[in-house]
Amino acid sequence: MTSPIAYFNGELLPLDRIRISPLDRGFIFGDGVYEVVPAYGGKLLRAREHFKRLQRSMDEIALANPHAVDGWIAEVGRLLAHHPGDQAVYIQVTRGVPPKRDHVIPKGLTPTVFMMASPLPTPSREMVEKGVACVTAKDFRWEKCHIKSTSLLGNVLARQISADAGATETILFRDGFLTEAAASNVFIVKDGVVACAPQDNHILLGITYELLTDLARAGKVRYEIRPVAEAEVRSADEIWLTSSTKEVLAVTTLDGKPVGSGVPGPAFRRMHALFQDYKARLAAAPATA
Ligand code: PDD
Repeated sequence: MTSPIAYFNGELLPLDRIRISPLDRGFIFGDGVYEVVPAYGGKLLRAREHFKRLQRSMDEIALANPHAVDGWIAEVGRLLAHHPGDQAVYIQVTRGVPPKRDHVIPKGLTPTVFMMASPLPTPSREMVEKGVACVTAKDFRWEKCHIKSTSLLGNVLARQISADAGATETILFRDGFLTEAAASNVFIVKDGVVACAPQDNHILLGITYELLTDLARAGKVRYEIRPVAEAEVRSADEIWLTSSTKEVLAVTTLDGKPVGSGVPGPAFRRMHALFQDYKARLAAAPATA
């Protein structure tokens, strides 16, 4: 099988030909940031918002951004020219390769930029129709979860808890309140009102989360952004996960117990339809949109 074309420091080349120094601070320290941008029919979903979030992550770790938003969009376009169909574009920028290992951030390094594209692993029809199982855990990650950092050990260990339980995600609580899941944001619904956790340093501000609240507003679905107590999650009528690859997905069991009636609820079906409609309009829009 031929290796897919990937992007490394401005060059397009087969993925299996890319070589990264073991001294790269991304490898040694997880000193880097990333984005995952979905592309439907070659159109990036909310590209500007993704690259603005990348800028915010880079600002938080004092990493100089090699491209402005338009530059990033152009570079991703070069990669996507080799990847037709719906894709997940992975973009990673690390602090680069210093001469030696030292925790102190060296000055003047050139960041390492890596990108790859792979077919977008959106949920199967069965997952959408039946919903998925989730488990819960204490949020044991750090205090800077708003940075989309490649240092993902906390998220990896959190996600493994659900993998070991045969579940799709691990929903996390910090001090009795919902934060997010290992690789998704979380929404609940009670008596027809949607609620999600505030956009602070304890969660990643998901681009899908923002899109969902925009769609809810436009579709006149009531929603609240506020602290959500663990007890509210456990007694919710509906729970949803959102992410660039999961889109919006209903959670129908939590820690082995049914959520609400145990099937995807009416608010989910409405949001899912609004999301699919948004996607279809994006894919049909002119290439420059
Ligand atoms: N994860 N919270 C966390 C911890 C995440 O890792 C993600 C996404 C989200 C949702 O963000 P968005 O809607 O912008 O995808 C929330 C990506 C997809 C990943 O790491 O693969």
